[in-house]
Amino acid sequence: MAPSTNQTPAYVIKLVVLVLMSATTTAYLILLRWTRVVATDKYITTIAVALQEVIKFFMALVVLIWQNRSIVGAVRMIKSEAIDKPYDTLKMAVPSFVYALQNNMMYIALSNLDVPIQQILYQLKIPATALCSVFILRRSLSYQQWAACFMVFAGLAMVEYNPEGPYKSPQTTASDQNVFIGISAVMVAVFCSPFAGVYFEKMVKESDTSIWVRNLQMYAWTTTAAFLAVITKDLATVREKGFFFAYTPLVWVLLCIGGVNGLLVSLVLKYADNIVKCFAASVSIILSTILSYFIFQYEFGPGFIIGGMIVCSAICIYAIPLPCLGTKWTSSSTSKKISGASYDKLRSATLNTDNDEI
Ligand code: C5P
Repeated sequence: MAPSTNQTPAYVIKLVVLVLMSATTTAYLILLRWTRVVATDKYITTIAVALQEVIKFFMALVVLIWQNRSIVGAVRMIKSEAIDKPYDTLKMAVPSFVYALQNNMMYIALSNLDVPIQQILYQLKIPATALCSVFILRRSLSYQQWAACFMVFAGLAMVEYNPEGPYKSPQTTASDQNVFIGISAVMVAVFCSPFAGVYFEKMVKESDTSIWVRNLQMYAWTTTAAFLAVITKDLATVREKGFFFAYTPLVWVLLCIGGVNGLLVSLVLKYADNIVKCFAASVSIILSTILSYFIFQYEFGPGFIIGGMIVCSAICIYAIPLPCLGTKWTSSSTSKKISGASYDKLRSATLNTDNDEI
């Protein structure tokens, strides 16, 4: 097959999944604000997380059945690629429990830090993703790309910093807060999602197992972890108010969009990578803040415009190598810095995807 026909579909797939992921993330953030801030009755968040994982599991199952054109084919695939390979399935517990750890760390951070500070520190997730990509996937970044990762951190921190924002209400009084514990928790959280994302990226790019089977393996574990969180944290509230307390149709729409978004995240990790995912997600944060201004009349934070401009510049700086900045980035020099077999496998998984079915 000619190289041009090989690469065009991969490029299109990458672009489509990135745009769809950004769109669903924006919609998700808006609906989340609506259901958490505007709605009067608040649903129990641990249950929402658990239901979200169940929905993602069934969505991944439907895609697998559709891909196999039969339920029997899908079941056979699950048996041969997941049930008959318990060690492989066990490996997918790692990102699942790391995501669960992240959720818990965020709760601890929110109880010990003011929300704006926590929001700023959490943006360190982007340089952390770059670090995880370098150490785990042995990817190479130019100085220019590193600078772009720190710029997007700074830009998003400015965009997100809003002491008058809707989430300003502290959950605890200042005397209850332990800043050291709060900062430690947010730092652990900052590395959890990049680690889990990069781990998933490695699993889907370095093995032939279907991405949908990988997702099913992961969602089986995340569902288990999420229901354990319901039992340990909110059992009393569930007994008092009921499992589906405050589940309006809008909350179900939120969960479905969140489900589609999760599947799109997995496709972005397969067809693009974690760092690109962070850049796309930062665009969604900006878009959702602008839309919130029109929908909820939320005021922008003091650094919104400058922060937004820094994020947009960072995206260009990351994507377009500038010789005038003195970097020597070329795709071939990048490939040389990464150990041969590992890089080739990753690169072919990322670029030559025209034979893969989504
Ligand atoms: O915080 P971060 O942007 O890394 O969150 C990624 C989200 O994507 C998580 O909520 C995770 O549950 C979801 N995800 C998914 N399926 C994957 C990988 C990530 O639903 N295969």
